[in-house]
Amino acid sequence: MILSEQTHLKNSESEMRFYQGDCLDVLEQLPDSSIDLIMTSPPYADSRKNTYGGILPERYVEWFLPRAAQFLRVLKPTGTFILNIKEKVVEGERHTYVLELILALRKQGWLWTEEFIWHKKNAYPGKWPNRFRDSWERCLQFNKQRQFVMYQDAVKIPMGDWSKRRLKYLSDVDRHRDTSKAQSGFSKKVTNWLGRAQAYPTNVLHLATECTNKQHSAAFPAALPEWFIQLFTQVGDWVLDPFMGSGTTCHVAKKLERNSIGVDLHQVHVKLARGEL
Ligand SMILES: C[S@@+](CC[C@H](N)C(=O)[O-])C[C@H]1O[C@@H](n2cnc3c(N)ncnc32)[C@H](O)[C@@H]1O
Repeated sequence: MILSEQTHLKNSESEMRFYQGDCLDVLEQLPDSSIDLIMTSPPYADSRKNTYGGILPERYVEWFLPRAAQFLRVLKPTGTFILNIKEKVVEGERHTYVLELILALRKQGWLWTEEFIWHKKNAYPGKWPNRFRDSWERCLQFNKQRQFVMYQDAVKIPMGDWSKRRLKYLSDVDRHRDTSKAQSGFSKKVTNWLGRAQAYPTNVLHLATECTNKQHSAAFPAALPEWFIQLFTQVGDWVLDPFMGSGTTCHVAKKLERNSIGVDLHQVHVKLARGEL
């Protein structure tokens, strides 16, 4: 790490620290168990070679693992790691490197606790000879232990108009706990929803990509880190984005009064995150 490239932007509520370098080296200088949430979108295998270098799909796991070892070390035991990633199609097949990465991370000591789907709700139609447009990406959740912090009430959503229609006429079954006939083990009591203004979301996030992006070719929408930061952290906690790009995660963290650390290999991205470009 080049220490002089570190920048602290501090206001009364929160601090943003930016570092230029390979996160593998930079993170060595962070203390153990000091981060509440790692929210990141690394370079996807072999994509955008000209912008920030591509890693061959077959070498992706080998490249990622030493960096993930640092993530494991700096994350608090109750913290969460969210990995936004997608596989590419190679020779007509979806490559398996993301699946291989999940298995390798489990071997490294991570628990693969959840998978969220980011549905890009403004994706425009497209057709290739044997497939349609990919309009979703994975947000994989990893934890160090089963007991991790999660503030579910922070991401509640309005019940929506469907509930007015659904709850207008209640059957006898609706008034009792109804166990799934498919033997899934799930049950529901529809009358529990009466009088509620809000409900918990599902693990599918319907978020538009931002077309007016911030001079970075692969920025994710601010709403993506915002959702995870609210779900997994509180005011004053520390958020890390080891592949920060334009610094979206850090800027959202600051808006939500969380402290953040962002790392990027390229000076131009650090300048972008600092607001110098
Ligand atoms: C997909 S982009 C992240 C975009 C970001 N989420 C945003 O909203 O702008 C991945 C970033 O990782 C950076 N990068 C690639 N290899 C890196 C490494 N070894 N250490 C730190 N950053 C790296 C790239 O320069 C690129 O900006």
